[in-house]
Amino acid sequence: MGQSLESRLLQALATLETTHARRMLRAFDEKPFINFSSNDYLGLSQHPKLKQASIEAIDQFGTGGQSSRLVSGTKKLHLALESAVASYKNTESALVFSSGYQANVSLLQALCQKDDVILADKWNHASLVDGCRLAEATTIRYRHADMNHLEARLKALDGKVSGTKWIVTDSLFSMDGDWVDLPALVGLAHRYGAEIILDEAHASGLFGAERASGLAEHFGVSQHIAVQMGTFSKGLGSFGGYVAGSQALVDWLTNKARGFIYTTAMPPSVVAANLAAIEVVRSEPNHREALWQNVAWLKNQLQTLLDGRLVPYLVPKSESQIIPITLGENALVVEASGFLMERFGLWLSAIRPPTVPVGTARLRVSVCANHTKAELQQLVDGLSGYFSQ
Ligand SMILES: Cc1ncc(COP(=O)(O)O)c(C=O)c1O
Repeated sequence: MGQSLESRLLQALATLETTHARRMLRAFDEKPFINFSSNDYLGLSQHPKLKQASIEAIDQFGTGGQSSRLVSGTKKLHLALESAVASYKNTESALVFSSGYQANVSLLQALCQKDDVILADKWNHASLVDGCRLAEATTIRYRHADMNHLEARLKALDGKVSGTKWIVTDSLFSMDGDWVDLPALVGLAHRYGAEIILDEAHASGLFGAERASGLAEHFGVSQHIAVQMGTFSKGLGSFGGYVAGSQALVDWLTNKARGFIYTTAMPPSVVAANLAAIEVVRSEPNHREALWQNVAWLKNQLQTLLDGRLVPYLVPKSESQIIPITLGENALVVEASGFLMERFGLWLSAIRPPTVPVGTARLRVSVCANHTKAELQQLVDGLSGYFSQ
């Protein structure tokens, strides 16, 4: 007789335990931790305008989305949000999805067809990876952010693809805090006749001098990117995902993106908060200014620790709000995370494979606009305390 489901699962969980790879849920608010694992980079989840917009929408429309957008779920509020996203991203049109994960999976499945080839960065976010799995196109991966390798892959495909060649990448990589050389990527796409799908989940609201719409704006290449994807769930402090591009793209996704068609509309309270978030990002640059000041201060402190050989890791060169502290083995990072939590009240999750490659387990520090100097100092003290024990 085969093993029971229960014992099979327990055995598999025990294996995860022995490799320090088992994930557990712990309530963040069980104690007053200082959170350095949040993607609420601008602190907008606590902004009074977002909260108020949500409350008013609940009063007016109730709590749920009621049905799929194509059935009776679309309200004027949804259309207003899509038009706000399109102006934010400076595109013809936009479509909102219930989450960023859903947006990526559905857009790749709907767009990348049988005769197409997807060239995907090896470290793309799991939602892009899953979308590639679901798409009928062939996926070929290239080394992380390596434009020479991408070019070699494109060259090898020259004249061999009857459909579309897609380059699919995050703009800012969430586990390393580095970003792709977008002007070079756009140059390659142009030279080899490929289209770009760009995930700006961690860059939206933060980069871009005029609209803060992401790294495509920062590098001045937005008009060369066919599909710009983003989330409301990180810098914009709320929830949900979107795809921005041409009207034809949006019409196609409305007809073919299964994660858009076969799911209930985003609740009005979330739509209203998202609209308010776009407006706040436009009119209140002080949040990102505070963020970049915090990032500069912390990196400077970490560099001092490094120069004094108090910490054994490199401070990343990229100017981003994500600072990985790579320790290598799972056990080490679990121990460090526990130490910082218990002794210093710092919440810094242990990031382990399969989220990051084997042997690169890390603490991922994400700096936010609403971290105080005292909280940043507590992090510096915690890290030097851990590394000097
Ligand atoms: C690069 C990237 N894309 C997409 C997502 C999914 O977004 P969401 O959390 O809105 O589902 C995430 C984060 O979770 C992400 O890091």
